[in-house]
Amino acid sequence: MFTLRLSAVLLSMGLVASVSAQSVRNEPVQPIAPYEVTDPAKVELGKKLFFDPRLSKSGFISCNSCHNMSMGGSDNIKTSIGDRWQQGPINSPTVLNSSLNLTQFWDGRADTLKDQAGGPIANPMEMGFTHELAIEVLQSIPQYVEEFKTVYGTEELTIDEVTDAIAVFEESLVTPNARFDLWLKGDDNVLTDQELEGYMLFRNNGCVACHNGVNLGGSSFQKMGVVEPYQTDNPAEGRSAVTGVDADRFNFKVPTLRNVELTYPYFHDGAVDTLTEAVDIMGRLQLGRHFTDEENANIVAFLKTLTGDQPQIILPILPPSHDDTPRPIPFD
Ligand code: HEC
Ligand code: HEC
Repeated sequence: MFTLRLSAVLLSMGLVASVSAQSVRNEPVQPIAPYEVTDPAKVELGKKLFFDPRLSKSGFISCNSCHNMSMGGSDNIKTSIGDRWQQGPINSPTVLNSSLNLTQFWDGRADTLKDQAGGPIANPMEMGFTHELAIEVLQSIPQYVEEFKTVYGTEELTIDEVTDAIAVFEESLVTPNARFDLWLKGDDNVLTDQELEGYMLFRNNGCVACHNGVNLGGSSFQKMGVVEPYQTDNPAEGRSAVTGVDADRFNFKVPTLRNVELTYPYFHDGAVDTLTEAVDIMGRLQLGRHFTDEENANIVAFLKTLTGDQPQIILPILPPSHDDTPRPIPFD
């Protein structure tokens, strides 16, 4: 089990900063390194699986349905819609840069992307399928069998290989070269005065206590509503659902602020539509700070500099089903 104390995070960040300090500014936020492809065939297979709706019971829902590559890796709705039009319980976090998070899910119940990837396929609220049926479908498609053989050296497909390939594809979904990263790397002209002012407010008021590191989040669980309680009808308990510890109630994994301009609506309940409102709530509830309209606008301007190069996805053409491939299961 894993609980991170903030001081430990800050300490480890300090160490990271001093190692790579030559060219990068000494700030509590670090730039994203570009992804280096080491196994292109595996990334390509993972991409196909990520986009393949035949991993769902209805034959209609893929990972991309709720983590849409055209929309910052999220779905831009309050809570996701899954099998049989069911409204899910919680907002869909982005998959972009998720490899930089120390755990997955709002409550951190999966340690790795590979552990995470099996969940949605079999979740009745999401893709509504079973691992056995998903494997049966893939195993029946000759072109997939061929590709799995190239990547894993076996014709016997397993869910372990499926989740491994998806996880490796997800590792490729980093978004380097945000304007803020160019500034971190020493370019003095890339931010406007307003954006820089926004960053100073963000840093000096203590947003960085929680939103820090490469992902500006994803490195600790923190209470939502430190100074004032957060009002919501959403029943999610946060980290205590995993640890059973009452003190962890309403602690959530701090979300990344990378590409946050694209990943509205905000918070685990998706209740907030705009960055202006999210910044206002964070200021008051987490820090006891009431930002003026101007300060708020400056912080929002800074947050928009965190949008990086989006993954250049060439839409995969999926191998066609075979005559023997089990067909989607209709609504009963
Ligand atoms: C029906 C919508 C839906 C589908 C389909 C779906 N997801 Fe998700 N995904 C979500 C939601 C909602 C969460 C947050 C759940 C939670 O934290 O309890 C999530 C969380 C995640 C996370 C964790 C991100 C983080 O920062 O914590 C990853 C990674 C992810 N999904 C990948 C996938 C993959 C891979 C697939 C396909 C195998 C997939 N998802 C299919 C809605 C969906
Ligand atoms: C004590 C830790 C903490 C501090 C300080 C903090 N945040 Fe957060 N932030 C969180 C947590 C936890 C969440 C997720 C809460 C939830 O979804 O219920 C969050 C969510 C957000 C979100 C929404 C992201 C999304 O994708 O849903 C934004 C934007 C944000 N914070 C900006 C800020 C800004 C700006 C500041 C400073 C004014 C700040 N935060 C200070 C912990 C913190």
